[in-house]
Amino acid sequence: MTDRLLELAQHPWGQRLLSTLGLPQPRRLPRRDGPSMPEELAGRLVHLIGIGDAPLLSALTQIVVAEGATVVKEAQVPVSTLIVDATAVSTLDQLRDVFRQVQASQARLTPGARVVIFAADPTSAQQARVSALAQALQGFARAMAKELGRRGGTVNLLKVGPIPIGSGTAGQPLLAGTVRFFGGDRSSYVSGQVLQWRTDAAARHLPGPVASRRLAVVTGAAGGIGAATARRLSQDGFHVLCVDVPAASEALEALAARVGGEALPLDLTAEATPAALADAIAARGPLDLMVHNAGITRDRTLARMSAAEWDSVLTVNLASILAIDDALDARALWREGAREVCLSSISGIAGNAGQTNYSASKAGVIGYVTHRAQQLRDRGITVNAVAPGFIETAMTGRMPMMIREVGRRLNSLKQGGRPDDVAEAIAFLASPQSQPLSGEVLRVCGQSLLGA
Ligand code: NAI
Repeated sequence: MTDRLLELAQHPWGQRLLSTLGLPQPRRLPRRDGPSMPEELAGRLVHLIGIGDAPLLSALTQIVVAEGATVVKEAQVPVSTLIVDATAVSTLDQLRDVFRQVQASQARLTPGARVVIFAADPTSAQQARVSALAQALQGFARAMAKELGRRGGTVNLLKVGPIPIGSGTAGQPLLAGTVRFFGGDRSSYVSGQVLQWRTDAAARHLPGPVASRRLAVVTGAAGGIGAATARRLSQDGFHVLCVDVPAASEALEALAARVGGEALPLDLTAEATPAALADAIAARGPLDLMVHNAGITRDRTLARMSAAEWDSVLTVNLASILAIDDALDARALWREGAREVCLSSISGIAGNAGQTNYSASKAGVIGYVTHRAQQLRDRGITVNAVAPGFIETAMTGRMPMMIREVGRRLNSLKQGGRPDDVAEAIAFLASPQSQPLSGEVLRVCGQSLLGA
């Protein structure tokens, strides 16, 4: 679906027109595509700031260099990625130091720049004062994200758990994955996010060599986000079983052929499906990645919603996930260190009028991953939700024009995301280096104002 406002805003005359009309002027976002590369940050100009002891700073600097970026110090040089180690902030003076140093770098940030802040986890702080400062950094990051969004930039914050992973320790590969994703252009539509980075659990499951042929299942693979995800995962070496309703078989076969995977036409609501899927995995397994992506909407206000509309949405969006996982758990089909990603939605966080069924199902997904992540932590299996905001797919294409137009703009980047943006987030959570993230909700929403 073409975003005419975005097109218009790329021309000087269009910008003048939009400015006269008082309309937003979205920036075209820089994006990176293709398979994950050894030097993901090649070409980027990275400035690093450390506050106090800054225990991560030297590891971060080594990572940035290893990823092919140029570390810049001089005041005149533009900066495309700013990384701040604020994990040691424990006084108001140090918080002010963050403000002053980031402010000094801000003018040098290029349009579409990435800012990544590492901060302490307020809940594991030993003193209330330190907890206050750690939380203050979250407010700082979210507010800065709103300011930078106008220029297509993003700001995200990682709350680092109690075990510091310093320079030269075995934890560095874990830090590298986070820096690659949030510091580069695969996270263009992820902004204003605060995520818990659990070093203690992750340190016990450091990434080993990746199996030569990793097995992934993507449900709803014939749809917008599912197809993009299957494509992206195949680029990173996954053999993808593409699942969708039998009615979508033709599209599914074509996709499977394109990504070198296999089509598995199955209706997720059928009673026999969990066992059939488990059989298919058992014949090829063990399973490295499950992406529960299939989803439907049946929008109606609560007063008018039929029981059938409620049931169908809850069955596809939530019950099918539980039933499939039960079947896979019962037959122990997961590889140690496997990954599970469930599609939630901003509607599951904020609620949405006319979507009591959909919002309930997507909020349920969040409750599910939070709990399941704890259950599977000892086996190194991570379970996360990805919550897209407004993504340009068939689902949003079916919205009435005015609602669609408003939906697109209700975020800091003033535009909708693409299926590839969601696929990149899923590919990151599927990677061995995402081990410290589990039980999290990664929003791919351009810092949506809903549920912020
Ligand atoms: P889509 O409508 O393009 O694709 C969904 C796919 O799921 C379709 O191919 C459909 O056939 C499949 N599916 C539905 N019922 C099924 C069943 N019973 N068995 C097997 N497959 C079934 O939707 P889109 O946009 O790609 O969404 C993917 C996921 O992302 C969904 O869970 C959706 O709720 C979520 N999402 C999407 C957003 C957006 O803006 N597009 C926003 C927030 C969440």
